[in-house]
Amino acid sequence: MSLSTTTGFRLLPGRLSPEAQSQLLAQVLAGAEQAPFVHQVTPGGKPMSVAMTSFGPLGWTTDARGYRYEPRHPSTGQPWPDIPQVLLDLWSELADPQVPPDACLINFYDARAKMALHQDRDEADFQFPVLSVSLGDTAVFRIGGLRRSDPTHSMKLSSGDVCLLAGEARLLHHGVDRILAGSSRLIPGGGRINLTLRRARPAQ
Ligand code: SIN
Ligand code: FE2
Repeated sequence: MSLSTTTGFRLLPGRLSPEAQSQLLAQVLAGAEQAPFVHQVTPGGKPMSVAMTSFGPLGWTTDARGYRYEPRHPSTGQPWPDIPQVLLDLWSELADPQVPPDACLINFYDARAKMALHQDRDEADFQFPVLSVSLGDTAVFRIGGLRRSDPTHSMKLSSGDVCLLAGEARLLHHGVDRILAGSSRLIPGGGRINLTLRRARPAQ
């Protein structure tokens, strides 16, 4: 049985065309002028290797006080830029046509960045999926089970790929082992951008 039929994990390779990838990249870079990428600090005091910003009413934040969603950028104090329409459309098609996402975390990975195995559990209602869009260099993505100690396996996420953690897969552990530097020419200077759409607050 494939992972997709058993767990509600869906991978849509190349879901975004090269043109759509370039347009979305331009929107991310424009957003980052207003809401710059920041290496946030974990509650344990470690700066993350991944630089982050957000789109939407809420942005995912971490600092000494913990993990949470905030309506303003931690350094500028300004609201986050709006979520681009192309992402709202993807969510409506693949995740939920009625309730829009209210947060889009944007991760930037340079050639040395990675993300430890974790669950996305700072959202109010796990009925809503997490929808991920990858741009730029390919990631070696790791996915496991509901328990941290469950077996894991790795797969590649390339530019334009969309994946969903939905239903029983919503709380699977996942992370990024490494980035394959030079595998894409989309981002000037290289690197990978991952956008994850989430519903952080309960549906009204
Ligand atoms: C995340 O779990 O926040 C990001 C996953 C990814 O970069 O593909
Ligand atoms: Fe995550």
